Amino acid sequence: MKIYLSLVTIILLVSCNQSTNSNSFDRTYSENIGIDRSTAAGERLYQAYTALKNNCMSCHSGYHNTWSSYNNDQAWINSGLIESNDAYGSTLVIRLKNIGGNMPKDNPQIPEEDFDKIIDWIEGI
Ligand code: HEC
Repeated sequence: MKIYLSLVTIILLVSCNQSTNSNSFDRTYSENIGIDRSTAAGERLYQAYTALKNNCMSCHSGYHNTWSSYNNDQAWINSGLIESNDAYGSTLVIRLKNIGGNMPKDNPQIPEEDFDKIIDWIEGI
């Protein structure tokens, strides 16, 4: 009986867990980082965040830096890395190899589509 109950408990836990991970909530709100994707602006941030995650955050996250925790536009603006509505005036963009900077360090320039996502995001803020 005890084993049976434990099994039921485990099955219940597993199935509950799955339902939170695979429902429509996830499509508009990314749990891991907490970016609200239900608006066009939120979606642009999410796309740019993903590009930065893929190309930059291996270095720019850690004890001295918190890029990965910037899950809203204001956090990025407060960091001084981006200027609202001025992508090419933003430190984060100026430093890109794509336009003559030196980032990502030790790596080739980022894919054009990732670059575009970052520009679209900043220009839309
Ligand atoms: C291989 C590690 C590495 C990667 C990948 C990398 N960086 Fe950097 N980044 C550094 C280091 C080290 C510095 C500090 C030295 C310097 O400024 O050149 C730095 C500095 C910077 C700075 C100025 C410092 C600041 O926080 O204001 C910016 C902006 C920047 N990187 C942007 C980027 C962007 C955008 C990407 C992704 C496209 C990226 N970096 C990818 C290592 C990296």
